[in-house]
Amino acid sequence: MTGKTALITGAARGIGLAAARKFLAEGWRVAMLDVLSDTLLEAVRELDRPDATLALEADVSDPAAVQAAVQKAHARFGRIHALVNNAGIAIFKPILEVSLEEWQRVMAVNLTGPFLMVQAVAPLMRDQGGGAIVNITSISGLRASTLRVAYGTSKAGLAHLTKQQAAELGDYGIRVNAVAPGPVDTAMAKAVHTPEIRADYHDHIPLNRYGLESELANAIFFLCGEQADYITGQVLCVDGGFDSTGIGLPTLRGQRRNS
Ligand code: NAI
Repeated sequence: MTGKTALITGAARGIGLAAARKFLAEGWRVAMLDVLSDTLLEAVRELDRPDATLALEADVSDPAAVQAAVQKAHARFGRIHALVNNAGIAIFKPILEVSLEEWQRVMAVNLTGPFLMVQAVAPLMRDQGGGAIVNITSISGLRASTLRVAYGTSKAGLAHLTKQQAAELGDYGIRVNAVAPGPVDTAMAKAVHTPEIRADYHDHIPLNRYGLESELANAIFFLCGEQADYITGQVLCVDGGFDSTGIGLPTLRGQRRNS
């Protein structure tokens, strides 16, 4: 055991759960926060590490619930060395069909959630001499696409919030970075990506496949650890090269196949 603790939001499944597994495997203790309490309790049970895990049922957009959850984690583990703001929701709809409620909910979870979590955790990190924060954004926050007016805008806001937090929290020895996943095979991706969309993604990703949850977890862990001690204010794309490409990749691939 390293004696270190990470608080991970949206940890009941998907990328958040994979990150929890990674931190545990590296000897950290993990406070796992999620709004889906049954799924969370099941995940914690399956991890079978009662010595090193804590389940926190909370909605990241609820300021009182966030404060209470962070206090519970602090009371149980003492210091919080890393915070991973991973909880997120996706509503993919045409721009003229997104309701005000849907827009506000996406902003509340994806953007206000990390703002509230950092307001609750950063004072503890400051008083304890520093820490690391990783916000999970998305390639959809760096590049506009169809159906993503709320989701993409919330993630673009989160990318900027990351830089803002890095600028202001550096004084306290707190580093803040973002991981921007490309498509990853999780419940969220499976729910919204049809076979046609999957084929489109493969076409436009240099590495020609979706990412694995474990690959995202590795990048998150790296940014939280000592190997990243001089890195702050960055958005690291973990996307098989998706963000780096423009037009032409499918055509060039086709030409190569036919030559
Ligand atoms: P997921 O839907 O499998 O897991 C998200 C978790 O967050 C769930 O356990 C959910 O209950 C929790 N959550 C949702 N709203 C919450 C709230 N208000 N309070 C607390 N917990 C809440 O999603 P996945 O794919 O693991 O995504 C994790 C993060 O990665 C999200 O922020 C997502 O936007 C981002 N991402 C995912 C991509 C993908 O292809 N899967 C691509 C780019 C970004």
